[in-house]
Amino acid sequence: MEIKKISPSDTWSIRQSVMWPDKPLTYVQLAEDENGLHYGVFENAELLSVISLFIENENAQFRKFATQVTHQGKGHGSALLNFLIHECEKKQIKNLWCNARTSAYPFYQKFGFEIVSETWTKDGIEFVKMSKTLKTQI
Ligand SMILES: CC(C)(COP(=O)(O)OP(=O)(O)OC[C@H]1O[C@@H](n2cnc3c(N)ncnc32)[C@H](O)[C@@H]1OP(=O)(O)O)[C@@H](O)C(=O)NCCC(=O)NCCS
Repeated sequence: MEIKKISPSDTWSIRQSVMWPDKPLTYVQLAEDENGLHYGVFENAELLSVISLFIENENAQFRKFATQVTHQGKGHGSALLNFLIHECEKKQIKNLWCNARTSAYPFYQKFGFEIVSETWTKDGIEFVKMSKTLKTQI
């Protein structure tokens, strides 16, 4: 398994097929994508899991975290999220947050993310904002 930086367009197909299979590809293309950092997990040259990071001063949001459906539950997402947390710490980011699907809440909780908002619903999916204070490196 290898984690590498990827381009925004590399993420779109996995985002769409995993998160919004009933929506067109344009639905998962973000206006902010060009300003983000994008990372992917590869195995045998196949892209299996993606995550996108958007930094604003000492805060960073990750968005559109998805693992190919047939490859979920094999540790790729955990490896990618651990990598991202470490990258953020190296970049002196103090706070990492996301708008989490409540279905993914137990997963994020294991990484030390805490709920910091009420829940809300978008397109039939329930979300909650989760946040983690990072240990920035000297
Ligand atoms: C959330 C998501 C990105 C996690 O990616 P993943 O590659 O499945 O992540 P992992 O395999 O590391 O962990 C998933 C689960 O499998 C478990 N797992 C990890 N390694 C495992 C292994 N070797 N064998 C069995 N289970 C394992 C993890 O403990 C985790 O369990 P949990 O859901 O009870 O917390 C993925 O499930 C996904 O794409 N979900 C749909 C989209 C989504 O909800 N994205 C997040 C939006 S906020």
